[in-house]
Amino acid sequence: MAWYDKYNFNAYEKDLADSIQWEKAPAHIAIIMDGNGRWAAQRDLPRIEGHRQGVDTVRDIVKACRHLEVEVLTIYAFSTENWKRPKWEVKFLLELPYKYLQEDLQSLLDNNIKLRISGEAEALPAKAREAISNALDRTANNNGMIFNMAINYGGRPDIVQAARRIAFEAREGQIKLEDIEEKFFANYLQTAGLPDPELVIRTSGELRVSNFLLWQIAYAELYFTPVYWPDFKRMHLLEAIYDYQTRRRRYGGLEEE
Ligand code: FPP
Repeated sequence: MAWYDKYNFNAYEKDLADSIQWEKAPAHIAIIMDGNGRWAAQRDLPRIEGHRQGVDTVRDIVKACRHLEVEVLTIYAFSTENWKRPKWEVKFLLELPYKYLQEDLQSLLDNNIKLRISGEAEALPAKAREAISNALDRTANNNGMIFNMAINYGGRPDIVQAARRIAFEAREGQIKLEDIEEKFFANYLQTAGLPDPELVIRTSGELRVSNFLLWQIAYAELYFTPVYWPDFKRMHLLEAIYDYQTRRRRYGGLEEE
């Protein structure tokens, strides 16, 4: 019996799973989910249909990550730049976390997954804020995996809010300038306490970082795939993890013997 037998892997997925050294798999995977609009356009469907399908992909990938024993999965659900989209699309996108949590909170509980939010959630509609706060409470003691939704998140705003809080505490005499080192700084970011992502996946063939976790991905491996997010399946996740392992991570040092 292989560990994946209960997950219905097809032959290709089994092959990938057997080729991956799981003890060296990334503990934190962060995903820029791109291409929903183009997926819909290809099918003559409205853009929101692409986002709807995108939520289904999120469901599948959360489950897959849990089964693969990923420790943290971060998804970029809404960026601080997404406010520039037409009003109706912004409204639709901001309702997705609410809808998702309404439908999937039980599944997070059943799978021992803890929800976390990165970003300024105060700007979300009241309904979404309530659903989030309820889900944070209900999943607080889960320890199987952390599902981190980046909502109204931007990497630069994240760094700026950290700097501002640190400056405030320094001015109040609560901390000394010498305290401010990298680890200390990271604890003021919205990802405080999480390991840095080792693998960043971006779908849809765009080759950009788009203000996602700028500080946190300093040493991450970047994986780009032409697949549109609604088409991204467990098989593609396994491909990304496999590819990650073919890279030699040196962190600026030299190859280990
Ligand atoms: C970019 O695609 C993607 C987003 C703006 C995020 C979309 C949100 C989801 C996939 C769902 C989030 C899920 C939860 C559970 C909250 P795009 O619209 O820019 O695609 P395009 O570049 O092809 O137009």
